[in-house]
Amino acid sequence: MSLDPFKDKNIVLGITGSIAAYKAADLASRITQAGGTVTTILTESSSKLISPLTFAALTGRKSYTDADLWSESEHVPHIFLARQADVVIIAPATANMMAKLAHGLADDLLSVTALAYGNGSTQKPLIIAPAMDGGMFTNEATQANIQILQQRGAIIIGPEEGYLASGLKARGRMTEPQDIFTRLRYMLSRNGDLKGKQVIVTAGGTREVIDPVRVISNRSSGKQGYAIAQEALDRGADVILITAPSQLDVPFAATCVPVSTADEMEQAVMQNIAKADALIMAAAVSDFTISDTSKEKIKRKEGKLALKLVATDDILMQVAQVRKKSGKPDVVIGFAAESQDLIANAQKKLAAKDLDMIVANDISSQTSGFEVDKNKVTVLLKNDQKIDLPLMGKDEVAEKLIDQMVELLKKAKKA
Ligand code: CTP
Repeated sequence: MSLDPFKDKNIVLGITGSIAAYKAADLASRITQAGGTVTTILTESSSKLISPLTFAALTGRKSYTDADLWSESEHVPHIFLARQADVVIIAPATANMMAKLAHGLADDLLSVTALAYGNGSTQKPLIIAPAMDGGMFTNEATQANIQILQQRGAIIIGPEEGYLASGLKARGRMTEPQDIFTRLRYMLSRNGDLKGKQVIVTAGGTREVIDPVRVISNRSSGKQGYAIAQEALDRGADVILITAPSQLDVPFAATCVPVSTADEMEQAVMQNIAKADALIMAAAVSDFTISDTSKEKIKRKEGKLALKLVATDDILMQVAQVRKKSGKPDVVIGFAAESQDLIANAQKKLAAKDLDMIVANDISSQTSGFEVDKNKVTVLLKNDQKIDLPLMGKDEVAEKLIDQMVELLKKAKKA
């Protein structure tokens, strides 16, 4: 995972006395693993539900409680905590804590730190993930407090519908830590080196329809393309992910365009390239489609069955045509899946498809390429430059590829 959004970021995580407090441990762990510095503050009631020691162990840092507010050894801890925070998240946030924040009450370390920190803004967000019983959430007082907090710039995440500790099924469950984490990741990524750039990524293996049941496809899982989309998002880009059917979760905030056939993928790419700064064609596009798709299921019979195939358009060739006239996208990157003569074949594709960069992928290996989490690629650039990357995770490959793309975008701007 790219550490960029969390690098050098101080995150204050406030935990209040909802039964969802145990979920805050997962959130603290995720942010710490992603490279963020997490300082936790527990209210008195939350520390009855979960121990400060849990958070100290997960974050590798002191976990603060109200005792620190009155300790001689801690000099104005609320001011220090508020000043050094890049983000304050309160998860779970009880109705009581939101009432305090809305009205400026500051009678414990968390509420006084939040008061010193401010109301939240795009620069320094205040994120609140409420958790409480359904009736408490819909209570007019709670709703009015949420409105006040939102008007002042706080970001309210959730709560969600679901099973509550009282046995009720209603809106009141804290949003899952994974989802709070992805929202935070996105928020922190907006000033990266791809800020303001529009990047299109294609991913997965397209499917050509034989009959209502059967398709011809390939072994691409979409993992490399999805990892590239996530990396581009992590570095501030706006991402359009044009994806063939895939089991993977679409990265948060990517604009997803689901397609199935090569033809649909071509249409989606062509519709979007006019405003794109970069296109990365990581998809494994079918080179052939069925010329006479059967409307009915083809019945089993003995002997041979011949399917008539016809070539699909080469999407990158179409892009090259448009780009000649419009200059957009500024940077075009292709992949070359090869089982032999890797470099020579990739070089031919680089030239023929007028690419700025091609990522050559040896698909004969069992440990890299299709369906697995690792990849071994060689990057070829226009000026005969060749970068051999070792076998690494697809997310690490994505990071290296985006590094190259950033350089190419800089060059394209100068030219
Ligand atoms: N590609 C494309 N349109 C197609 C087929 C492929 O835009 N109809 C793109 C792929 O997304 C990839 C690059 O072209 O970025 C190379 O794809 P690859 O399958 O390696 O090569 P092909 O051009 O299809 O040639 P061959 O299958 O003969 O190796």
